[in-house]
Amino acid sequence: MTPPGAATAPHVPVMLERCLEALAIVPDTWVADATFGAGGHSRALLARGARVLGIDRDPDAAAHADALRRDLRTAGLSDPDERFRFVRGNFADLGTHLATAGLTEPSPLAGVLLDLGVSSMQLDEGDRGFAFRHDGPLDMRMAAEGPSAADVVNTWTFEALAAALHRYGEERHSRRLARAIVEARERAAITTTQRLVDVIQQAYPGGPRRDHPARRTFQALRIVVNDELGALERGLQASAEALAPAGRLVVLSYHSLEDRIVKHTLRDHPALEPVTKRPLEASPAEIEANPRARSAKLRAATRSAEVTP
Ligand SMILES: C[S@@+](CC[C@H](N)C(=O)[O-])C[C@H]1O[C@@H](n2cnc3c(N)ncnc32)[C@H](O)[C@@H]1O
Repeated sequence: MTPPGAATAPHVPVMLERCLEALAIVPDTWVADATFGAGGHSRALLARGARVLGIDRDPDAAAHADALRRDLRTAGLSDPDERFRFVRGNFADLGTHLATAGLTEPSPLAGVLLDLGVSSMQLDEGDRGFAFRHDGPLDMRMAAEGPSAADVVNTWTFEALAAALHRYGEERHSRRLARAIVEARERAAITTTQRLVDVIQQAYPGGPRRDHPARRTFQALRIVVNDELGALERGLQASAEALAPAGRLVVLSYHSLEDRIVKHTLRDHPALEPVTKRPLEASPAEIEANPRARSAKLRAATRSAEVTP
């Protein structure tokens, strides 16, 4: 079976070499690739001798994990479980997933990698509803459960919508767009990405702009629907707790709201010592080859030897 997304948009792992360096891999130790996606980073980790626990909340990621397991078997590994395990779930619950995977006390985790945000597959598959460039149902749920973006757009009050667009999209015209959404939904429920894009485009003030008028609204809805910032805060705490002493935490973030949380947690958590003073960024050559890398910021920390968080 072809993993979902494989035919349409293979996800190119971002800052791969930098991630591997920052994880300081010790062969045969376990690393949690807690945003497994299509498994690009996991495959490179395995090739460098690490054992990998893949975690992803997206049900489609399981097919990529199956493909990886098959490839390990084809490469001659009779028991892939020895080197690779996969759990579907939220990285906020990392401790629970370790137990599910049978990786318990004392923690064998020498590294945790968080490559935040959405994958190319999620963006390119119109029926997931993440992309303002593809028409599809207004969904945006990574884990395919809970309220969708359409539920938010059609039921939240004007004030709540405006606040979300302002806070999570850093959208300057949050009130104007929220008003346009509320007016449009009174005519008919907004159920597709294209209809939302049309509503925003009609309401957006003219003049020069740097990006697509719907970009910030879509970012805000995605963050709300998946509680992305809450999950990140809990995931960073859980990672700090789960890492073995001297283990590495490496995080790739893609916008300023994520990066702020990562920066403060890595600096302030009593069990973490930052390895990167300033965030690392992708090279111009990588950005040219993979535009997704343009906004990537890599930060890393080491788990202190003694502190109890
Ligand atoms: C940028 S992609 C990762 C791509 C991956 N590094 C690769 O090379 O294929 C981000 C992935 O993280 C997953 N994800 C985002 N937030 C998550 C969370 N809180 N818990 C678990 N998975 C999450 C998404 O479903 C998506 O598959």
